Amino acid sequence: MTDRLVIRRPDDWHVHLRDGQMLADVVNFTARQFGRAIIMPNLTPPVTTVQMGKDYRDRILAAVDKSLNFQPLMVGYLTDNMNPDIVSEGKDQGIFTAFKLYPANATTNSSAGVTDIKKIYPVLERMAQCQIPLLVHGEVTHSDVDIFDREARFIEDVLGKVVQDFPNLKIVFEHITTKEAVEFVLSTGSNIAATITPHHLEINRNAIFQGGIRPHNYCLPIAKREVHRLALRKAATSGSDKFFLGTDTAPHAIEAKESACGCAGIFNAPHAIESYAKTFDEENSLDKLEGFASEYGPRFYGLPLNEDKIILERKETQVPDSLSLADTHIIPFHAGKTLQWTVSNA
Ligand code: DOR
Ligand code: ZN
Repeated sequence: MTDRLVIRRPDDWHVHLRDGQMLADVVNFTARQFGRAIIMPNLTPPVTTVQMGKDYRDRILAAVDKSLNFQPLMVGYLTDNMNPDIVSEGKDQGIFTAFKLYPANATTNSSAGVTDIKKIYPVLERMAQCQIPLLVHGEVTHSDVDIFDREARFIEDVLGKVVQDFPNLKIVFEHITTKEAVEFVLSTGSNIAATITPHHLEINRNAIFQGGIRPHNYCLPIAKREVHRLALRKAATSGSDKFFLGTDTAPHAIEAKESACGCAGIFNAPHAIESYAKTFDEENSLDKLEGFASEYGPRFYGLPLNEDKIILERKETQVPDSLSLADTHIIPFHAGKTLQWTVSNA
């Protein structure tokens, strides 16, 4: 049995850090484990200009513990009327690493998102030219589509077409939740990859309704049936370089989660890598963790691998019931549970 794993420092290819006090109080959970992180731009207002990306990066760097060597990778937020020059300028100035497609009203702070994919075709054209990746929240938003079918419908209605129309565009299908998404990604070329969260590897949709409504297990895309969770676990632990780590850690104050209209998002940053280690261990695939966590992401983005290492040991980690952050409480993923892995040098 493997009791100690030494792997290259991982990166997190999908993180919500928020802003202000929340940013200050959550960023070091991520920075302690990960060398780099792709920072989601769904602030209020969203990060739609190069200057906003630069300023947000400065605020993040100011909040990071100075003893940590952490690099935030900034993302621009696509809107219906975005000027394609922002793509070239954002890339040339070294501010934006990628751009994010939020279908309008698909999730938290997405009301300024894209109402019709055709509206951003000129921007996608420029992104393909500049070889800057498109990050996709892959859900259709029509109210007549069942919430559990929104990802599969997005593949049929939108993503398949975008892949055809822009054969050279790099695309990350973010936080995939279905076997349809796994199959789609496997059927495409090397310019299409996907991230998988720790929570979608761990819970299925029953967890949202276990003995009552469980708002802390509610996120978007919503967790699906067990068959989908099993497909995600197989994909993540398969050693395919088309699937890599992206936590989608998304902190919300307890009162915003435990509400008549609770926010979507799971705060998994505190023990993200231990949670992934749990899955890979259960799937007898600990030897595949380093590729998923530390190699396939940077290779896809064309970035160097991290040089330093983290050590994971088979040693219990007690996850707190609640964390006192940003003048409120946040319930972390695995709250009150014990994980069997601990990062010993972070
Ligand atoms: O659950 C989610 N929370 N999904 C998203 O797409 C956004 C995120 C957030 O920002 O809270
Ligand atoms: Zn997200």
